[in-house]
Amino acid sequence: MKKIAFIGSGTMGTALATAACKGIDPKEVVVTDFVQEKGKALAESLGCNFVATNAEAVEAAQYVVFCVKPQFLGGVLKELKPTFEKCAQDGKIIVSIVAGVEVSTYKEALALEGTKTAVIRILPNTACLIGKGFILIEQGDSFTKEQEDEFRYILREAGGFDSLPASQFVAGTVLTSTSPAFIAMFANSLADAGVYNGLLRPQARRYALEGILGTVQLFLQSDKHLEGLKDDVCSPAGPAMIGVKTLEDTGFRSSVINAVVDAYQRFAEIGKIK
Ligand SMILES: NC(=O)c1ccc[n+]([C@@H]2O[C@H](COP(=O)([O-])OP(=O)(O)OC[C@H]3O[C@@H](n4cnc5c(N)ncnc54)[C@H](OP(=O)(O)O)[C@@H]3O)[C@@H](O)[C@H]2O)c1
Repeated sequence: MKKIAFIGSGTMGTALATAACKGIDPKEVVVTDFVQEKGKALAESLGCNFVATNAEAVEAAQYVVFCVKPQFLGGVLKELKPTFEKCAQDGKIIVSIVAGVEVSTYKEALALEGTKTAVIRILPNTACLIGKGFILIEQGDSFTKEQEDEFRYILREAGGFDSLPASQFVAGTVLTSTSPAFIAMFANSLADAGVYNGLLRPQARRYALEGILGTVQLFLQSDKHLEGLKDDVCSPAGPAMIGVKTLEDTGFRSSVINAVVDAYQRFAEIGKIK
């Protein structure tokens, strides 16, 4: 049996399958997709296996990672129920990355009670594609420590890991999975301002990203309060302090906080699959 299969070869399926193929022998990795050309192209580029159907992917591997959009998950689970019934005693491990969907959804839809099938709920982010992602794992009794450790080993090239109790999992995942969108908007706004002030777009883009990267690396290496650096940069009546006042006048902090709070609410809604 192969080690791991990915159902769905889109953004996240590609990112995680890429990491798996770096961490273990690509011959142990299986991909599939609704659009066969997409799955085949991914398998070719990674040197791993392609199978034509979701059922074949489940049968082929020990770990089965569901990488489809929430609105398609109900259909995929319905389609795969007979396959999981057939594999009930094989010790399969389902891994869900589907935002907002709880472990109980898989247990009910696939009738897993009394079987040897485990379910691990995780939430990765897009930077897994370049090995700089972050994967949160929801703690629970639906899988063993050995299964979690092996899963972390298979995907170690994706980036960092942490695990959280179920009560904090969504709060954690909202930060790690939505922040790339907000940071992209922030970075582009910085670059726009650089262009407004006379820089060429490529320079403005690079300088904005270098500023963000250096700041983040500095913080990751210290325990300093996140606003300590702001205080260091803001000299009396200096340009940075004037810019800080402008951001506060336009509700910068409350905009960011509200964006994350609203995203948290949305997670609960998208998990209600039909
Ligand atoms: N993107 C992120 O940053 C992110 C972060 C964390 C978690 N997630 C979660 O990851 C999951 C996948 O997101 P994504 O951004 O990778 O979506 P995506 O790019 O749309 O990828 C989903 C893939 O699954 C395929 N698919 C659709 N129906 C299928 C079926 N019945 N059988 C097999 N494959 C099927 C899609 O094919 P088509 O192209 O034909 O539809 C597509 O290639 C979502 O549930 C999301 O909540 C995403």
